[in-house]
Amino acid sequence: MNKQVISFPTYTLYQDSCFKVLKKLDSKSIDFIFADPPYFLSDGGITCVGGKISSVNKGKWDQTISLKEKLSFSKRWLKECYRILKDQGTIMISGTYHIIYIIGFVLEAIGFEIINNITWIKKNPPPNLACKCFKHSSETILWAKKKNSKKYTFNYQLMKKLNQDKQMSDIWVFSRPGKKEKLYGKHPTQKPLNLLERIILATTNENDLVLDPFMGSGTTGVASLIHHRKFKGIEIDKTYFEIAKKRLLDVKE
Ligand SMILES: C[S@@+](CC[C@H](N)C(=O)[O-])C[C@H]1O[C@@H](n2cnc3c(N)ncnc32)[C@H](O)[C@@H]1O
Repeated sequence: MNKQVISFPTYTLYQDSCFKVLKKLDSKSIDFIFADPPYFLSDGGITCVGGKISSVNKGKWDQTISLKEKLSFSKRWLKECYRILKDQGTIMISGTYHIIYIIGFVLEAIGFEIINNITWIKKNPPPNLACKCFKHSSETILWAKKKNSKKYTFNYQLMKKLNQDKQMSDIWVFSRPGKKEKLYGKHPTQKPLNLLERIILATTNENDLVLDPFMGSGTTGVASLIHHRKFKGIEIDKTYFEIAKKRLLDVKE
């Protein structure tokens, strides 16, 4: 049973595990999926937050697990995403090197084909305190379609227009979200709203149905509603679910 479901004409939010909810969604019913799954990087190390030494740990949901476990976790949710995605639908998944290569492997293995490997360069990354490697300042976003489908939505002309009338590349520079986007509470891995707005505008049309199985603070939902798309979001953690709920209620559609 779902722990909490709230439903409006343009969106539905589920507070539960995506492994339970995805199974209940109709096959070939979703136009676009954006997923920002756990990176499994929380290993007790240190980082820098707001100029102060801080734990790298994001929460129990992000604790480092074995390679085999990461593979099995990724296969479970991605197979369901393949089933519920329309034949002409596409999926974008964001992650760091801790998970993204496994996801790339699983995507290909279950019948997806990668369209783009987008690099999000963070304008304001925290310094690397250990000084034993380069400063981490990017994340990868994989964009994929079903292998056998020839047609999918890509609003090429709009992307060009938004890029001073030049072809847009797969290198995107955005700052991490600021205070204005955290009015209802903080999420440790919240995505910037302008990054999600670009993603939604590039890959969907008005009234399309967007799904985020790891919704967190609801950034994908906010971007979807701003641009008149429909949205379904799933989040296991009650605190993050409440933040998402408030952020979506605040959108003037
Ligand atoms: C990387 S964060 C997503 C952040 C989000 N993109 C945002 O802008 O706020 C991953 C989220 O997945 C949630 N999560 C982890 N396991 C889950 C599961 N099995 N089902 C649903 N949500 C899950 C975590 O609680 C966390 O909020």
